[in-house]
Amino acid sequence: MHTHTRIKLKLLKKYFDICHHYHKDNLRKFYHIDTYAGDGYTEFGNEKALGSPLLAIQKGFQCFLLEKNKRHFKKLGDNISDFLEKSDIKNEKVILGILNKDCNTAIEEILKEVPPYCHSLFFLDPFAPKDLKWNTVQKIIEHEYKFKSPRDMPLRRPELIINLPISGIKRITGKLKDEENNPEAKKAVGHVTDFFGSIQWKEIWKKYEMDRVKGATTSEESRDALKNLHIGNFEPQINEVCRMSHHDNSLEGNPIGSILMWPRVR
Ligand SMILES: C[S@@+](CC[C@H](N)C(=O)[O-])C[C@H]1O[C@@H](n2cnc3c(N)ncnc32)[C@H](O)[C@@H]1O
Repeated sequence: MHTHTRIKLKLLKKYFDICHHYHKDNLRKFYHIDTYAGDGYTEFGNEKALGSPLLAIQKGFQCFLLEKNKRHFKKLGDNISDFLEKSDIKNEKVILGILNKDCNTAIEEILKEVPPYCHSLFFLDPFAPKDLKWNTVQKIIEHEYKFKSPRDMPLRRPELIINLPISGIKRITGKLKDEENNPEAKKAVGHVTDFFGSIQWKEIWKKYEMDRVKGATTSEESRDALKNLHIGNFEPQINEVCRMSHHDNSLEGNPIGSILMWPRVR
């Protein structure tokens, strides 16, 4: 999992560097909304690195943070206080809000905090498919804002980085055959349906399974098919997609995840 996390944070840092360069004269024009904030840090064995919320704070960006887990939430508050104390960054400049809530239920409350004239990033970094519902993503991509100047700038929507929990999704595909007679399997399958926003993923997976038995497809292709289904949901609003897949050698080359990004301008 370490490789995946490192790549995720590297991608985010690069994105932040670009935003910082672009908005350095007025950082108030950029909002970072971290709906799966964690506790502020990421651990790689004995090594501890800044996690997504602290990377954003370090850049001086305005942040709106959500964390559902009570223990992580408490640690997040403590870690942010310690971090700010050691820096010259003022809390009120960077922290717009920290909520101990499920982002799927609090999404409307969050969107109200994203002003109509600012560039924003929603960083969606769920552990598992059950943590993110398509409904939530849809509300984010329907949110609109305009740059104040020049006045004829096109309408924009939030940018998104989604860390697709593909390995969790693939694990649940194994439960599809028990869906009808095992309530636990039915629940897990339901989470994936909520993640994709429809039952279409089941057909895609069943076709993959048939092709796999015939030796006509690979694991990589099945992963791509699921990713493409998710991306397809974004049509027609999508402007640009940047996908990343990678393999973790420590897991004998098994694919463990993908990161997708949808910068969008209309
Ligand atoms: C992968 S970790 C986040 C890591 C963090 N983004 C980083 O890069 O440092 C996922 C976090 O999301 C939290 N979480 C899971 N489901 C959530 C939900 N529905 N709403 C808010 N937080 C959630 C978990 O408790 C966990 O701390």
